[in-house]
Amino acid sequence: MSKTIIISNRLPLQISIENDHLEVTPSVGGLATGLKSFHKDGDSVWIGWPGLTEEEIPEKLKGEVQKKAKDENCVAVNLSSDEIDGFYYGFSNRTVWPLFHYFMEYTEADDTYWKFYKQVNQKYADEILKYYEEGDVIWVHDYQLLLVPNMVREKAPEAVIGFFNHIPFPSYEVFRTLPWRDEVLEGVLGADLIGFHTYDYERHFLSSVSRILRYQVDFNEITLPDRIVKVDSFPMGIDYKKFEQAALDHFKNTEDQQSELQRRLNHHLESTPDAKLILSIDRLDYTKGIALRIRAFEYFLDKYPEFIEKVRLVMLAVPSRSNVPQYRRLKREVDELVGRINGKFSTVSWTPIWYFYRSMPFENLIDLYTSCGIALLTPIRDGMNLVAKEYIATRTNHTGVLILSEMAGAAHEMNEALIINPNNFEQVAQALCTAFGMPEEEQIQRNKMLQKRLRRYSVEKWANDFMKALHATRENRDAFKSI
Ligand code: ADP
Ligand code: G6P
Repeated sequence: MSKTIIISNRLPLQISIENDHLEVTPSVGGLATGLKSFHKDGDSVWIGWPGLTEEEIPEKLKGEVQKKAKDENCVAVNLSSDEIDGFYYGFSNRTVWPLFHYFMEYTEADDTYWKFYKQVNQKYADEILKYYEEGDVIWVHDYQLLLVPNMVREKAPEAVIGFFNHIPFPSYEVFRTLPWRDEVLEGVLGADLIGFHTYDYERHFLSSVSRILRYQVDFNEITLPDRIVKVDSFPMGIDYKKFEQAALDHFKNTEDQQSELQRRLNHHLESTPDAKLILSIDRLDYTKGIALRIRAFEYFLDKYPEFIEKVRLVMLAVPSRSNVPQYRRLKREVDELVGRINGKFSTVSWTPIWYFYRSMPFENLIDLYTSCGIALLTPIRDGMNLVAKEYIATRTNHTGVLILSEMAGAAHEMNEALIINPNNFEQVAQALCTAFGMPEEEQIQRNKMLQKRLRRYSVEKWANDFMKALHATRENRDAFKSI
């Protein structure tokens, strides 16, 4: 029976070693959380990296890592610490990630990183080929594996290969600055179908292909000498039912079942009746606009002191890629900003910012989503932003206001949110005032529309639509051959 081979750099499970034992936790990030539901329900094998380098896993635990992965229909790929440095911290996260998010000043062009990127992409391609059988469908994910589709195609010319990019694709003027732009585009074009979250990213990609490689592009089809490649946008959704159900369960908890966090959040809301909690959740990443958000919050408190002791910004930042200098710098900047603003505005009974720098279990995430009447998400660039969608899905009584940056892919589908430019502090402050004053009927009306759309365009539909379009390319290929 044919199967789907999913391949991404990060597996949905993160393995770590605690006191000589393996600990398994869910991975953070939109790709892993979104795709997990598709993988769980279908007949697929997922190949990827479990989060530890070869050197970090003691010999006696190596088999155990593979077993933990296998329990979840995954295959763990071994990467050495040199490979992780050059491929993951290097080319993926110091070259492609900043460039594709328009942070050109952070983008490094280093031949050694590129060498490791090719080497590890080849390793992933070889791993796919070990599991590939005729009739299988191969689905490659994200910017760490841009060369994999063509590497697989070279060895298995008949394979049906899809590629989905979870981050923005930048405009031609930005992409053209990459020294290895031709190789990267040729690498992705090994796929039969290439998917993006938004039409804009799709357009940027097609424009780069036609201007750099000079292939013929008609609407959303690229004609290669021997094949046609289709490009389309598929905005990723969430596992709506899972978040909705988790929120309903959260409200059923009796007092003794509540988490400490839930108790503290409830206590805050009960002790200050007209208070509101403003939530933000992100990986600690410079693309997420975390420092901008804190500064905008300071602007808001300066300009509208009547909100002092009435609001609290609850900020969860999950540690991410801390070997890359920009992430370490951002961590210091955020620590400093939180300290300064808490010092500036705190009173004996109130601190304006609650800042958590850690990962939290799913139940706590739901505690936060359900307790905070406002979500403030201000990315400077973001491929999609699933947190925005998860927040709305957990608002089971339909109240709550989402303030969302127009730079997030999700903003295209979430018009009923308050859409802001995160660089415009006045606009952010105004949106906060609007959110505070928004009558409940209006909140309900907006959220019901959002919920209806999110329920319909769930992650399941996203994956099915992509798969359907991918299967259709097989038929097109036969038609192309007969011309
Ligand atoms: P990105 O993919 O850039 O990290 P998204 O907003 O698209 O951004 O996705 C983040 C995902 O990570 C969401 O699905 C969210 O639920 C999950 N997540 C965020 N913080 C945590 C956390 N502390 N623990 C577990 N999952 C988290
Ligand atoms: C984003 C990327 C994913 C990545 C995730 C977490 O969602 O699109 O590919 O897995 O961030 O980042 P990490 O570097 O920890 O895998």
